[in-house]
This record gives sequence, C-alpha cells and structure tokens, in this order.
Amino acid sequence: MEKINRPIYMDSHATTPVDPRVLEAMLPYFSDIFGNAGSIDHAYGAVAAEAVKKAREQCAHPLNAHPEEIIFTSGATEANNIAILGTAEQYAEKGDHIITCVTEHKAVLDTCKHLQKTGKSVTFLPVDQYGLVDPGQVEDAITDKTVLISIMTANNEIGTIAPIKEIGKIAHEHGVIFHTDAAQAVGHISIDVKEMNIDLLSFSGHKIYGPKGIGGLYIRGSNPRVKLAPIVFGGGQEKGLRSGTLNVPGIVGLGKALAVAEKEMAKEEKQYRKWTTQMFDAFKDAYPSVMLNGHPTKRLAHNLNVCFPGIESKALIHLLKDDVSISAGSACTTTSVEPSHVLLAIGRTEEESHWAVRFGLGRGNTEEIIEYTIITLKDDLNKIKKISDI
Ligand SMILES: Cc1ncc(COP(=O)(O)O)c(C=O)c1O
Repeated sequence: MEKINRPIYMDSHATTPVDPRVLEAMLPYFSDIFGNAGSIDHAYGAVAAEAVKKAREQCAHPLNAHPEEIIFTSGATEANNIAILGTAEQYAEKGDHIITCVTEHKAVLDTCKHLQKTGKSVTFLPVDQYGLVDPGQVEDAITDKTVLISIMTANNEIGTIAPIKEIGKIAHEHGVIFHTDAAQAVGHISIDVKEMNIDLLSFSGHKIYGPKGIGGLYIRGSNPRVKLAPIVFGGGQEKGLRSGTLNVPGIVGLGKALAVAEKEMAKEEKQYRKWTTQMFDAFKDAYPSVMLNGHPTKRLAHNLNVCFPGIESKALIHLLKDDVSISAGSACTTTSVEPSHVLLAIGRTEEESHWAVRFGLGRGNTEEIIEYTIITLKDDLNKIKKISDI
C-alpha cells in the first residue's frame, strides 16, 4: 500500500492546490518575463502581452467562446460583481429588475442585495429539495422590467447542477441577459456558452488547480452583444471593464489550468463519480440514516455533501482533523456558525444543517485514499456513536 500523506485534502470546493504543470508555466513570469502587458512598445511588455493573449485563448476554447469575449479579474467574486452591477447600470433605462435564486454564493446574493438598497428590484427564487431552480418559475418571474437573470451553474455546497441551458433559452426568448456563476463548474463539467445561451459567465483559478486571486468573466460579443457599465476605473485595461495592471503570472496560470482541465476533465469526472458513489454506499452501510444533500444525479461528480443525523459536523471534523480535511457547509463563510443558507433552502432544518459535512474530491486522491477515508470515517462515527449514545 502506498504511503498516505495525512491529513488527506478533501475540500476542493474551497480551493485546490496549484497543479505542478500550472506552476511551471507561471514561474518565468514572476522574474524573467516581468513586463507590463500594457507596455507593448518594448520587448518586455510585448512578451508579457503575448502570454496574456495565449491565456485568453486557453480560457475561451473550453467554453466555446472567442478570446476577445474573456476579461481577466481577481476571481469569481469580482467577475460576479462586474457582471451584475455592470448590467444593472448599463441597462437601467430598460428596467430595474433582476432574478436570481436563494442558493447562490454570497458574491451574487450580496451584490443583488446591495442593488436592492439602491432601489432595484430583485426576485430571489426558491429551489426544490435537491437545490434545483425551476425554469418555469424563472419564466414566471420575468417582467418587462427584467434586465438580468443570474443563476449559478453548480452549487458550491451541495454540488447540484442547474438546468442552465433551459434557463438561458428562456432568458433569450424574453430578451433578458443571462449570467451564470460557474466558479465550481468550469474545468469540472463541460460548458458551451453558445449552446447553453449564456451571456455572462464567471470563473475562478483556484477552484481548478490554478492560482488564487485570478479569474475571469466571459462577456458575449455577438447575438446579442452584451455591454457592461464599468464598476472599476483606472487605466482602462480589459476593455475598460477591469482597470488595473494585469496579473500576468496569474493569467498564465489560469490559462494553463484550463488547458489541463479541458484535457483531463472527462476522465476525472468518471473517476470522481465512482469514488463519491463508493463513499456514499459505504456511509449508508455504516450509518443507514445518512442523508444526501443535493441532487442524486444532477451533481458535480467530486462533491459529496451528507448529513449524519445526530452527529454535529464540527465534532466529526474535529475527530477527522489529522486524517482528512473536509468542511461543514460552505468554507467561504466558515467562520460563522450560522446554518447554511443552502441547506435551509433545500428544506433541511436548522438542526439537520449542523449535521452536514462536505467532501470535495480532487487531484491527488487515489483509490487507497478513498478506502482510507471510508475506514477512518466509519471509526470516527462509531466513536461518536459510543460517547453520545446514538
Ligand atoms: C460558486 C462560487 N462563486 C464565487 C466564489 C468566489 O470565487 P473567488 O474566490 O474566485 O472570488 C466561490 C468560491 O468559493 C464559489 O464557490
């Protein structure tokens, strides 16, 4: 049996390590090739600009987008802000209504709440017990004042994959712009912005084995051409939509990360599906009342979010801490002990939501690691059962 380095990392929805191939691609751009990609009148800047051009192509290709439709940002949070605030302002004369849903990441929810404070109207649609938003309800919510629909591609807590293509079709039939936060989906499931009727799409480097602090926004260039009002002002980089000197090493890393993901995604997805199924089956054996959070099939293959009734997630995570690193609910707001808004939205009670643990499988996980995780978790569940008389 191979030596297992503990603790095993299984929190890929929070972040992923930089892939060695990505790091290798990035390294020269910190020191040797350090030019400003905006200073193209000399060799240093021109070489950096060339690297950014290549990365733009690497990001566009897997999405079936044109490189000129990609702008680089500091991550999915900023991309979401630029997309939502930029649309709201650009199309203010057309209308003041936005449709989103209750299980979105805070980067979408809080941006929409901010717009509400400025007088815009926002519909927060509910989801069903699996975390799915109903396209029929999206259509019913559209008014002649609706300018934007923003629905995430895949949920960061429970992994549910939304019916994006259908929602995009509805948006286009009504002349409404469709944005999707695809931070958890890009590089993990195949996305075609044209086929899926997507106008704006946010993505992030550190969820796909790229560096932190870099991401991007796809902005549809034609049929229809989407325009955004800028919310960041300065040197006018990225078509005036994201001023600031380009983070060349980060951009190179993001491009490489997507190029690697494009090649390996299908194989990885199959592997993760097998492992998460194996884990859930083993959990059911050990703890028959275990509950799956999220959709049984329309879910990210590397996500497994479960409640062990009666077992506080914090206690389990603490017991597991030297063996396996997993998270309770969403890591992005993990300092708070508030129940997860996503789990409450799918109908879990407050008590049940404190039983939820999330496994996010990733590169580096192996057959042995999966087996080790199952054995360790079963042991720890038994320990808790014994002490707490469950
Ligand atoms: C669905 C979703 N959107 C947005 C973000 C924020 O991304 P970033 O860290 O790149 O700003 C995350 C990160 O957890 C996420 O999961």
